[in-house]
Amino acid sequence: MTTDLLQIELRKAERSRIQEVDFNNLPFGKHFSDHMFVADFVDGQWQNQQIVPFDNFTLSPALSSLHYGQAIFEGMKAFKNEAGEVLMFRPLDNVKRMNESAHRMCMATLPEDVFMGGLEALLRVDADWVPSTPGSSLYIRPYMFATDTYLGVAPSKTYRFCIFTCPVGQYYSNPPKLKVETDYIRSAPGGTGFAKCAGNYAGSLYPTLLAQQQGYDQLIWTDAVEHKYIEESGTMNIMFVIDGKLVTPALSDSILRGITRDTLIKIAKTMGIEVEERKVSIAEVVEGIGNGRLTEAFGAGTAVVVSPYSLIGFNGQDYMLPEHAPSDSIALKLKEQLDAIRTGKADDSFGWVY
Ligand code: COI
Repeated sequence: MTTDLLQIELRKAERSRIQEVDFNNLPFGKHFSDHMFVADFVDGQWQNQQIVPFDNFTLSPALSSLHYGQAIFEGMKAFKNEAGEVLMFRPLDNVKRMNESAHRMCMATLPEDVFMGGLEALLRVDADWVPSTPGSSLYIRPYMFATDTYLGVAPSKTYRFCIFTCPVGQYYSNPPKLKVETDYIRSAPGGTGFAKCAGNYAGSLYPTLLAQQQGYDQLIWTDAVEHKYIEESGTMNIMFVIDGKLVTPALSDSILRGITRDTLIKIAKTMGIEVEERKVSIAEVVEGIGNGRLTEAFGAGTAVVVSPYSLIGFNGQDYMLPEHAPSDSIALKLKEQLDAIRTGKADDSFGWVY
């Protein structure tokens, strides 16, 4: 698909910053590509679509999203195939999920052609920023925030949508240690857990900090009602290998509909791995580690892709997960296949690559 770029105004950066970036050493989310796409929702329609140099915005101190949090985002990645072409992975699923988040947060929705047109135009302008080294990618951050200058608590009538990108390497350098959180919650039934809204992440920071002070890297979130069932981990979905099956908490309104989660489930099925989407209790997890039935636990998300965990702490006790050779790990086999599909090396039978 190509997009009519005529409706997008292009103002190019006077000089590229790409030479300042060491592509062999890419921290997550620190180096930003030269340009960004911006569009504004004003008078009931999306307008002023522009590609401009990555730069600061000028914002009113009364900007409603700064006060009441109408702000949502997506995370996606682009890769280069062996021919040097830029490939995106399942971008239309991000458009769909962003609009589900917008709906929940009472924000304007985005027509697919504004999102995809802006994204495609941006990646054409900044194609040189898409890394080609294995393990690296261009992380894409589309987001939207309310722009009314008004202090009444009400849905904003105006919004800004922006997409910027950053070349990234691996998110975690070592397998993280996870603590099961049973006091604080990430989300609750009827809440905003399924939406990718800024407030979900803000609320997670303090309990995560407490866990880090105890020597853990991230949290495993439990259900808000009984603190008995596992929901997500850190900023991503969580998966286990139990009795050789891929087991993951079933989706609900308190769990993000992860695109990586969905992808891994589908890949697992094509590899003949049985998949269970169901309630997973903490008791089952700690018992499973103890009796050897649970062999792997890992996070699944766009930023981390697949992140095997080294231990799970619960009620003051640490449960070590067994180490696996890559050829022996279901998590790593799934990741390998996902990497092959999205870099154009494996057959894309699901039609995921754009
Ligand atoms: C992603 O995986 O894209 C996320 O949204 C995680 C992010 C908060 C770093």
